Amino acid sequence: MSLFYYKGGRLYCESVSVESVADTIGTPVYLYSRETLKSSFAEYQEAFSEVPHLIAYAMKANANTAILQLFAHEGGGADIVSEGELYAAMKAGVEPQKIVFAGVGKRQPEMAAALKAGILMFNVESKQELDVLNAVAGRLGVKAPVALRVNPDVNPKTHHYISTGLKKSKFGIAMEGALSQYQKAARLPHIRVVGIHSHIGSQLTQVKPFIDALTRISHLIGKLKAMGLPISHWDIGGGLGITYNEETPPKITDLAAAISPLLKKIGCTVILEPGRSLVGNAGILVTRVIYTKETTEKRFVVVDAGMNDLIRPSLYEAYHDIVPVTKRRRRRSYVVDVVGPVCESGDFLAKERALPSIQPDELLAVKSAGAYGFAMASCYNSRPRPAEVMASGAKYTVIRERESIEDLIRLERMPTF
Ligand code: LLP
Repeated sequence: MSLFYYKGGRLYCESVSVESVADTIGTPVYLYSRETLKSSFAEYQEAFSEVPHLIAYAMKANANTAILQLFAHEGGGADIVSEGELYAAMKAGVEPQKIVFAGVGKRQPEMAAALKAGILMFNVESKQELDVLNAVAGRLGVKAPVALRVNPDVNPKTHHYISTGLKKSKFGIAMEGALSQYQKAARLPHIRVVGIHSHIGSQLTQVKPFIDALTRISHLIGKLKAMGLPISHWDIGGGLGITYNEETPPKITDLAAAISPLLKKIGCTVILEPGRSLVGNAGILVTRVIYTKETTEKRFVVVDAGMNDLIRPSLYEAYHDIVPVTKRRRRRSYVVDVVGPVCESGDFLAKERALPSIQPDELLAVKSAGAYGFAMASCYNSRPRPAEVMASGAKYTVIRERESIEDLIRLERMPTF
């Protein structure tokens, strides 16, 4: 059952009225349900309980340290992609031995920071990166624990911007070259081969691409083990989709049931990197209507959240359900574009959407905004980024203050010439 629900015609997050948060904290504001976060994490733990596993939360989905801390308390690790993420994860109490580091462009200082922290493994994405990591580890007098990110060339059947496991993608090392890269890695003096990694894409709504990719990787693991390589960790990436509209992605338990037999057979510690499926449906973006506007062609609802606050609709034409925070009886329905105040035609949260007649000043909730929402927010048009709030039962607390207009130019300097 969703913890975002109506009671007496008013939208609640857990036992907190969404309107009361908007009135007190202001809008736009991201609002998360702690219980939803906890229960989706618990669902992963339970679903994969039969295989030794680590849930390394893909913190790019939502890097708020309060959320990281919550998952860390539940035993979670982190999948990171930058030194900034390493810093936040450690500040939030994620154990370094539960951190995996992916990304095609790791720089030397980032590698050094992660080596000093003592992370579980680097998911290495190219030949050059392997050599550079070997050199950085050598300078520090340590051995870098490494998995190669292998590209299984499987179509994840999702938006092309978030497909990552195809041959033409910038990610990973091609399947064909993987054996020789592993042999090379095993010979490097400051590299310690520990695992294998793949991640084929995001917002996957079918089990088959997961099975296809993992089957290919399992064959490779067999060959690597036969060559005497100590593959103890199998990082299967993230990517499980959520319901934004009418998608019917597999449940976490269904995914686990489908892939566990394969995972058990191989006998590695399995690392999962879920992002969206942990946080996506645990958050909404609350926005206030500024104006309604009618042209000869269209009706617009102009709200105070824009593409800078939630870029997914503009960037991927992603669908996010939008609902009034207070239901009113006898409202006619109109087809509208819900747009923000940003000076771009691409600034919209919904296009051609049937909504009950919306009035200026009323509140709307943009649903399924917990993943890649605040995380991708910017200050475009000099708009401070929104506050983030976490509800727990009848309480709520600000987990990130709204940026101020002073914050916007805080790091800028006037030239002296
Ligand atoms: N592991 C790796 C190596 C990744 O690159 C990603 C996501 C994940 C795990 C987590 O995937 P998830 O479980 O969240 O699907 N901004 C896009 C999504 C980009 C995903 C990037 N990588 C969006 O808003 O849909």
